[in-house]
This record gives sequence, structure tokens and C-alpha cells, in this order.
Amino acid sequence: MDKAVEVHKDNRSIEQEGDFLKLNSIDHLEFWLGNAKQATVFWKNLGFKPVGYSGLETGNRSHASWVVEQNNIRFALNTPYGPHHPMAAHTMIHGDGVKTIAMTVDDVDEAWRETTARGGVAVEAPAEIRDENGPLRTAAIQCYGETLIRFVERKNYDGPFMPGYQSLQDDPAVASTGLVGIDHIVGNVELGKMNYWVDWFHKVLGFRQILHFDDKVIHTEYSALMSKVMSNGSGRMKFPINEPAEGKKKSQIEEYLNYNNGPGVQHIALLSGDIISTTRELQNRGLEFLRVPMSYYEALPDRIGKIKESYDDIADLGILADRDDEGYLLQIFTRPIQDRPTLFLEIIQRRGSQGFGVGNFKALFESIEIEQQRRGNL
Ligand code: FE2
Repeated sequence: MDKAVEVHKDNRSIEQEGDFLKLNSIDHLEFWLGNAKQATVFWKNLGFKPVGYSGLETGNRSHASWVVEQNNIRFALNTPYGPHHPMAAHTMIHGDGVKTIAMTVDDVDEAWRETTARGGVAVEAPAEIRDENGPLRTAAIQCYGETLIRFVERKNYDGPFMPGYQSLQDDPAVASTGLVGIDHIVGNVELGKMNYWVDWFHKVLGFRQILHFDDKVIHTEYSALMSKVMSNGSGRMKFPINEPAEGKKKSQIEEYLNYNNGPGVQHIALLSGDIISTTRELQNRGLEFLRVPMSYYEALPDRIGKIKESYDDIADLGILADRDDEGYLLQIFTRPIQDRPTLFLEIIQRRGSQGFGVGNFKALFESIEIEQQRRGNL
């Protein structure tokens, strides 16, 4: 392996560390934003069906909430009705973004007890809400910045999303773009805080570190960052954590921290089983992606070798590829999905590789820096 793309793998088994928390899956991500109704149209355009709604018409006087789904991905899009709701100050300070990472558990009370006993800061004690579809239990703890982790126990609930939500009729106009699940959720934290949050994910949630990339690996001529990847026992939930590193100019992580006014979710990686058709569809629908120089594609077949996809399609669409000893992956990154240069999306297809595209970091970060320069933020 090329020294410039050296990856540090950590193969300690989860049994050695104790997977005390049975986290089943990402239940949903809750966004706090300025206009949930318009955000719903954005996600519909990306192939997400509105399935649930809570707001004035359902007796919710505090905020509107639209729930959208595509396969195993579910987002709740929330907006306050007035300035006194905590969401109002939050969106003023941080802009639109992910407030809560919700995880499905078998037993909320146990998840709450275990995590708070291990140092997790309590935000919402276990509570039960119910309607005619049964009871649903939730509890929440504080994660990086103002981000929350909420545990959701829905085994006895069979309504659309949560009690208080009204089901929405299937909208046949929404066509899937082939996004099937959440692959990983990346957090940006302040300089010097990465190891604190790595330890926190380990100690409080029982995650283990599976990879780390140091600033010798992730750097361009101007800026650098460091990243460690935490995973739960099943390997289904992966949380890379980034911090800025010293460079000649401002790193993309610092730009994020400035505009988000603190740590938070930097990108959500969405899995596709066919990234060629997903990306083509998303581009046709107007989603903006980052592009690397065409010279990247001249070197690509030699670097990656034989793949099932056409290199011409990959170059046309601006998709990136990387290979490691387990296989390869294909990935592409959007521009920020709101005006502040904060949250963006990644589309990823895995063909064996469980990595994060380290071989693409340099080309990718150089293209991010061109965008930063245009924003006057480099
Ligand atoms: Fe990623």
C-alpha cells in the first residue's frame, strides 16, 4: 500500500471490549430547520416518501414535523411555530442540520441506565407516549455539540412513526432513487476533542475504534484533518469523528465549526446498491455534487483494477473509487445541502471494501478547498 494512503486498522474484537448496549439500527435522524415543509419537497425530489406528519392540524401547537422515508432511511424534519421553542434559537445558531441521531433498542430503560451510568449526560429521561397503535418509549443523552442520541423502543408500537403523527397517503409521484440505508454518520468536533469523543463512544455506547487516519494521511498542500472511526458491535453503525489539524490555511472542518457554531454532524453517507443509476437520477433531479479534476480518471483504472461498472460512466458522473484488500467502493459527495457550508451527503456503494475511500481524500479535499476559496473561507 502506498505510504500516502496508509490506514491504521484496529482489529480488537468487540468481545474484548463488551458490547453491553444492543443497538439495532439507526431508527431515524431528526433535523431541526427553518422550513420543514419546503425541506420535505427537497427530500421528495431525492426519492423520499412523506409518511407521517404532526402539526397544527393534528393538535401539535409547538412545531411541525414531516417524516420522510426511502427504504431503510427515515428522517424527521422539524420546524418550530414560534420564537419560544428551543428549536428557534437552535436553528438561528446552528442553521439547518441534524439535531438527533435516533437508535432503535430493545429496551429503552436499560439503554438509558447503562449509558448514563457510564457517563452519558441525561437529556430526556425514559418516557412513554402512546396512541391507538400502542406505546413507544424514548430517552435521550447528549452527544457532540448540541447533537442528541435518542434511544427508541418501538417493539410494541405499529403506527406510522410515533404517537401523535398522522399517516400520509402514499404519493405515487415520488420515485425512488435507489438509496437503501445509512452507511455512516460523520461528526466534526473541535481541535483537540477527537480523542475525547472517541473515548466517549467507547465508554458510553460500547463502540470500538475500527480505523484511524492521521493528518499525514488526510492533508492537502494547505490544510489537514484527523479522523477516527467508531463502530458498534454489529458493525452496522459507523461513526467517523473528525477534528481539524494544523495547516497553512483554514481546513474544511474549521469552516464547518465556524458556520455551525460548534460541533455537529458533517455528513450522512447513504448506501446505494447501484451508484451509477442513483447518481444519474440525483443529478437529473438537480442535486449538486463535487467534482474532481479529469486527471483523477486517467489514473483510476490502474489504481483500482477491474470493476463491474464502466469507467466511462464513473468519469461522466464524477464518481470516486477506492480499493483495499477486501474489495472496492464507489462514492460521491454533494455540495452542502443548505446555504451554510455545513451538512452534506455522501452516496456510497460497497463492493467488499469496508473502508471510507482514503485513496480519494486528497483529490476530494482539494476540490472542497476550491469551493472554500469561492466562499472566501480558505
Ligand atoms: Fe463518509
